[in-house]
Amino acid sequence: MPSSHTDALLSSLRETAGKPLGEATAMHPGLYRSEEILALEQREIFAKEWLCLGRSADIPASGDYLTFAIGDQPVVAIRNRDGSIKTHANVCLHRMMRLLDGCGNAKRIVCPYHAWTYDLDGRLIGAAQMGRAHDDPTSSFNPRAHVLPSIRTEIWQGWIYVTLNAAAPPVATMLAPLTEVVDRYAQEHYVPVAREDFVWHTNWKLLTENFMESYHLPVAHRATVGAWFPVETNGFPADVHPHFTYQTFTKSHDAAYGLAHATNTRLTGVWRHTSVMPTVFPSHMYVLAPDHLWYLSLRPRGTGQVDVRFGVAVAPERLAAVADKAKFVADTIAFFDQVNGEDKLVVQGIYEGAKAPLSVPGRLSWMEREIHDFIGYLARRLSPAAERG
Ligand code: FES
Ligand SMILES: [Fe+2]
Repeated sequence: MPSSHTDALLSSLRETAGKPLGEATAMHPGLYRSEEILALEQREIFAKEWLCLGRSADIPASGDYLTFAIGDQPVVAIRNRDGSIKTHANVCLHRMMRLLDGCGNAKRIVCPYHAWTYDLDGRLIGAAQMGRAHDDPTSSFNPRAHVLPSIRTEIWQGWIYVTLNAAAPPVATMLAPLTEVVDRYAQEHYVPVAREDFVWHTNWKLLTENFMESYHLPVAHRATVGAWFPVETNGFPADVHPHFTYQTFTKSHDAAYGLAHATNTRLTGVWRHTSVMPTVFPSHMYVLAPDHLWYLSLRPRGTGQVDVRFGVAVAPERLAAVADKAKFVADTIAFFDQVNGEDKLVVQGIYEGAKAPLSVPGRLSWMEREIHDFIGYLARRLSPAAERG
């Protein structure tokens, strides 16, 4: 049962969500610090929603794999020989050793403990010294009867989404109105040039909120992504959507990035210098520009710690036009390392602020519309009605 303190925090969340944007504030700071709220988020959000594991193009070849975790469940997405991506529990069926680490390529999955060996589709195909074991009193141990648990996996616009929830609606259904906006970019063809995992010392919601609003761009990112950014072009969807939010913004015509390359024939008119910045609830955010995209996928590891998967991909025609690819990639990574450093400074600073006894949530700007959408999403997911459902 939630404590009365948690009830009060949830009630304040619903109250904030219920206000029109012009009267709304940020969330109560207690929502970032409470262990009970975190437990509720893990149970009602992260155990039930689709989470972004990475990009399909991260694992292009048969046997390529990429690991991830959904709460306490390690998982691994693997490209199978038929070209499909399958995700399995990344835990051995013998004595529960974690099977694969990080990313790489494997012809078979071999447990590092006693070498039980699995095919790419998760079937056990080898287990030494098991001839005296039995699956039941009448049949001997049959490796092929043992299969790694399968994790629901869907690919949408080049993103790999996974969930532990058998009842979650398909990603493409949930995000259909967003597909209409982003489809024009053909982002599934963007080429990954960087991917990195790190831990920041802040609450996951603070980083989500930070990524989704561009109010801070001309200030905190004036040296990087805040440049060439005409604030007045910031646009938002007409409707509030239950599973995502987004904004659009433009880059001025002299911008060094964020513009369609001359050989890009997909984008026309204003879209040639417009970026879309979707947040797929709860924790997958990306900037989709005509020439590149970059993203974060977040998972809480405590009230004050967040696991971040970060990546950058570049539009194929932009990459094809580069003479020195190695230098281009190194420069791109250095640029986004700088952007991340700018964000890390503020999101860790806000978490300190959220712990301060005199802190109160302030009024939101029109440019923070998506934070208000996010507060509405959290209120729906964490409310007692959601608990009963
Ligand atoms: S735990 Fe994997 S082979 Fe023993
Ligand atoms: Fe930022």
